[in-house]
Amino acid sequence: MKHFKLNINTKSQKYSIIIGKDLYENLPKLLDQNSVSFNKCLIVIDNKIKKKIILKILKKFKKKNKVVYFFNANEKNKNQKSVDKILNILLKNNFQRNDCLISIGGGITGDVSSFASSIYKRGMKFVNVPSTLLAQVDSSIGGKTGINSSHGKNLIGSFYQPNLVISDTNFLKTLPKREMICGYAEIFKHSIILKEKFFKYLNENASKILKIKSPFIEKSIIESCKIKKKIVEQDENEKNIRKILNFGHTFAHAYEATLNYSKKLNHGEAVLLGIMSAITFSLKIKLISKKDYLRIKNHFIKYNLPNNVNNYFSKKNLKKLVLFMKKDKKNTNNNINLILIKKIGKIKLSLNFTDKKIYSFLKEQLVN
Ligand SMILES: NC(=O)c1ccc[n+]([C@@H]2O[C@H](COP(=O)([O-])OP(=O)(O)OC[C@H]3O[C@@H](n4cnc5c(N)ncnc54)[C@H](O)[C@@H]3O)[C@@H](O)[C@H]2O)c1
Repeated sequence: MKHFKLNINTKSQKYSIIIGKDLYENLPKLLDQNSVSFNKCLIVIDNKIKKKIILKILKKFKKKNKVVYFFNANEKNKNQKSVDKILNILLKNNFQRNDCLISIGGGITGDVSSFASSIYKRGMKFVNVPSTLLAQVDSSIGGKTGINSSHGKNLIGSFYQPNLVISDTNFLKTLPKREMICGYAEIFKHSIILKEKFFKYLNENASKILKIKSPFIEKSIIESCKIKKKIVEQDENEKNIRKILNFGHTFAHAYEATLNYSKKLNHGEAVLLGIMSAITFSLKIKLISKKDYLRIKNHFIKYNLPNNVNNYFSKKNLKKLVLFMKKDKKNTNNNINLILIKKIGKIKLSLNFTDKKIYSFLKEQLVN
């Protein structure tokens, strides 16, 4: 069980992220070693994790003190109904605040479970065991919980830090290639917003990372987590610098919502399109140099990452796209707030644009 430990130190909670191989077979031991104790635990587990793996995980927990709930993770189920289902299981089994909810799954399972644990009796223990690359490098760190509503994505939620995060790269072996690319989107985003040196590393090694080759996969997860750690420790509740993590996401959320969160475009792919839109918009308003713009764009091309909005949208989607961008949480007035880029490693926060400006920008990007 060789692993790397990263300690996160926010105002509300100190906790560790454990990154390594062969960890999921030893969860109770790792919980013990990291002082996460409880009488009972509810294990919410993504039902697409292979049966063989689930059996290996569950075998190590004591029979009597665990309740297991299999969750069908998709954006449509990332809703209040799923939260209620979890809350009812906790209530029915008389869970107490110092009992523990353990989420084993991707970002959706983690976001729904952590939201439920944050409101159950005003907060119970929560452990995240992310099973997708996206969850290991992004959603399991920083304490954002949330669900979607018919008004948009992640509009209901809370800030609630976990007691422990355990990231096992063995989970990634069963992850479809498409999901690996989605996780890579957030790694790539982290490099662009804060660390040019890491961007250069990715430019050399992205193929090996996507093929889950050691030590490249571990290094990219650790580096990515370090960047997110640095940001959330400074600004836990997204009052300021944490907003840079939303780079590309204002566009991305509108892309996902316009396609009704369908599998045509999943979250990570939307983030990649969103990053492409954000760098193109930054170039349009002369914030980023053509050279840096091309360095980022060439990375998309080199590794065949989704980058063309025309594969998903046409001009008939324009009104809807802008409407969803206007509903973004970052907006403080009638304008649309964007996080843009000055150069690789340097972000420009909180620039506001009229919906007319965004409409005409998107119109220029769309051919049909
Ligand atoms: N809380 C945050 O800070 C934060 C940050 C970024 C993204 N998010 C959220 O995370 C979600 C996306 O997360 P995601 O990409 O992990 O999506 P996901 O949870 O839907 O997982 C992707 C797919 O992989 C399957 N899966 C999970 N683990 C697997 C495994 N080991 N093997 C095979 N299949 C597996 C899932 O069932 C699902 O079909 C979005 O809803 C997004 O809003 C949250």
